[in-house]
Amino acid sequence: MNMFAREMDTTAQASVLVLSRNPKLVDAIERALIQSPELSVASETLSLAEIGEAGGLFVTNRVVVFEANPEDELELHKLKEILSDRSEDNVVVALTKNDLSLQKARDLLDVGVDHVLPFSIKGDKFRALLRKELQETTPPAPVPEAETAPRSSVIAVTKSRGGVGATTVAVNLALGLAKLPGTPRVALVDLDMQFGNAGVFLDLEDNGGMQQLAEATELPDAHFMHGILQRHASGLDVLCAPASIMPLQSFSAEMVEHLINLLSAEYEYVVFDLPQALVDWVEPVLSRAARLEVVMDTSVPCVRQVRRLLDFLEYEHFRPRVDLIVNRESKPMFRSEALKQAQTILGRDIEHWLPDAPDIARKAVDLGRPAVASKPGSGLGRSFVRMAKTVQQGAPNAPKTKNEERV
Ligand SMILES: Nc1ncnc2c1ncn2[C@@H]1O[C@H](COP(=O)(O)OP(=O)(O)OP(=O)(O)O)[C@@H](O)[C@H]1O
Ligand SMILES: [Mg+2]
Repeated sequence: MNMFAREMDTTAQASVLVLSRNPKLVDAIERALIQSPELSVASETLSLAEIGEAGGLFVTNRVVVFEANPEDELELHKLKEILSDRSEDNVVVALTKNDLSLQKARDLLDVGVDHVLPFSIKGDKFRALLRKELQETTPPAPVPEAETAPRSSVIAVTKSRGGVGATTVAVNLALGLAKLPGTPRVALVDLDMQFGNAGVFLDLEDNGGMQQLAEATELPDAHFMHGILQRHASGLDVLCAPASIMPLQSFSAEMVEHLINLLSAEYEYVVFDLPQALVDWVEPVLSRAARLEVVMDTSVPCVRQVRRLLDFLEYEHFRPRVDLIVNRESKPMFRSEALKQAQTILGRDIEHWLPDAPDIARKAVDLGRPAVASKPGSGLGRSFVRMAKTVQQGAPNAPKTKNEERV
């Protein structure tokens, strides 16, 4: 298959759109579905009737989950019209009150809904149902072999242009992971040696740790490493970039490889904020990374730069799972021609869309309190929580989901 000709619906993840005017319901469904690594979930606090009339809904989204009230004849009539646009490949799920009559459930099926489920459906059952529906055409996500799977997840964050938001992502993702249930141990390393400012985002001053590491005459031990890491109030351990500019060649690939070994032995997640330059000591990070988070925008130069990076990874046989993160843009309801072209060039779907939130981002930097901690309920904060959960679900140490959990 020509990988550049792939359409959104046949990528490893299936796009799910959740629709309801009730934000609590939207949030509960999103939280339940986000645990499936094979689903990429987006939501709108709008009804299907409100959104569906614009057309194109079923092209952009493989699965549509919506709150339905089949007792409303007018709504049912509108649904029939909207669902006439769906294809065989789409999966349409209506969520309704628990005591819906059989006749009303049948009415929904008649207008083109695939499944009618009660609001009280358990999260694991819901996920299992979608998995089964999508199984036939979606390739299964690769499962690491238990005996070779590492305990620790190395996550690298890179940028497709300066200022696109990579440090914002690295810091919020690391903090989001550290705040997950079970408070996993997380280390954040700012390898943007010359211009790194992750410490500023966390209100931490450089303690000279990176400089000591660069000047070390032999490979450091765990004790040395503890001495140069700084504990953030959240529990996150941080290795800041030096306050004064260091030449890029101050570091060696051997040193970085060794640092990864030391950190991986102690931390469940090690997040690296990478420099834009592909210096040789970045290679150990790329070869050990389970995930590479690529922060970008949808402008033509940025998309081209990401394509070059993907080609480089392929050429060098680096095989991290790549997540494309578009910053400062919300996920569009319908794909514009430009976005379709961008996805064709990239040959893959966009994993996360982070809304433009200048006030929150500015305050977060000024106060040294990242959005995921200071504004976890905001659109931006929620996106980072979601990102951390997605990373956790794909990690070798991912917790089991609870059976009793409900939507
Ligand atoms: N979603 C957002 N909404 C609004 N502002 C944002 C958003 N994300 C990041 N910013 C702001 O954009 C600026 C650049 O972000 P950041 O430092 O994370 O980018 P970077 O890619 O790491 O840049 P550099 O090239 O300097 O390393 C910061 O002022 C940050 O607060
Ligand atoms: Mg940066």
